[in-house]
Amino acid sequence: MRLSDPRLLAALPELGVKRLTGASIAERTSLGIGGATDILLIRRHASLPDLIALLDDGGIPHRLLGGGTNLLVQDGELPWALLHLAHSPQEVRFEGRVAHVDAAADLGRTVTYCAKHDLGGMEGLIGVPGSIGGALRMNAGAYGTQIGTWVREVEMYRAASGRIEILSGDAIRFEYRHTSFAPDDIMLAVELELPSIPYAEIVQGIRVCNEKRRASQPLNQKSAGCIFKNPPGASAGRMIDELGLKGFAVGDARVSDRHANFFINAGQARCSDMLALIAQVRERVRQAFGVELETEVILWTNA
Ligand code: EPU
Repeated sequence: MRLSDPRLLAALPELGVKRLTGASIAERTSLGIGGATDILLIRRHASLPDLIALLDDGGIPHRLLGGGTNLLVQDGELPWALLHLAHSPQEVRFEGRVAHVDAAADLGRTVTYCAKHDLGGMEGLIGVPGSIGGALRMNAGAYGTQIGTWVREVEMYRAASGRIEILSGDAIRFEYRHTSFAPDDIMLAVELELPSIPYAEIVQGIRVCNEKRRASQPLNQKSAGCIFKNPPGASAGRMIDELGLKGFAVGDARVSDRHANFFINAGQARCSDMLALIAQVRERVRQAFGVELETEVILWTNA
């Protein structure tokens, strides 16, 4: 979608918003798939309510693009403008055991930065790609850690009120890869209250998680992490593997040889290839195990 609303375009400089025209989403997602659209780069959180009001008044559909690491986006010209939070110079600040982190900050870098301040508890999240905002929204988790455990409060744009609000951690439900945030709420910053642990001990924990991840996941290939959620008490990866589907492909969309719940873009995969692969694997699992797998990756597709 190319933005043309004169009222909106005229207001952007005043709101501190930069417009990236016809930006490629394939270049901004870890799967390397997705069409093009205008991106509005937000440099001042306080501008968001006015910006979104202008978009809504102009009838312009919009979505928030975070780190793009858990996302499958359709090809061609996209029917939404995308909002994206710019990085600020000091994304993590400390006050005792509390880390104030901007939503745009990289999750992995935040984990190491906290470690340098002798704050741990997030070691398991070290290799999870993506932003703090995305991790919050999905309640990212790995190796027994989930980010929701440490959330003291969240600053967010709340779609229901059209305002920036602060939510206490107790008021948010963090479940397995799911939270009580509304789909169009926008995370802006979080306060994480973390346990004090000596740096050397945290680093040891980080090493162990890194090794486990390297041994079992295809880290150097284009993917969005696990494609399906694990059904209660079972592993989607193990089921897909047991069906002999590692290496199974539709076009350049391929089930990883290393971890069967990672689907990789082995070259020039199109969104339709990835969707077809998802549908076929889901059907095979349904037939063999009677389990309907639910996608873990977020789909921005019209299928
Ligand atoms: N397994 C296989 N074959 C495979 C993959 C896994 O047999 O191809 C077996 C493993 O040997 C193991 C079991 O399945 O016995 C579970 O595998 P793993 O430890 O890799 O964990 P997972 O359940 O597949 C989950 C998360 C990952 C997270 C890891 C580590 C989901 C959907 N996946 O994977 O998260 O990194 O545990 O905690 O919850 C993600 O969210 O994108 C993601 C990758």
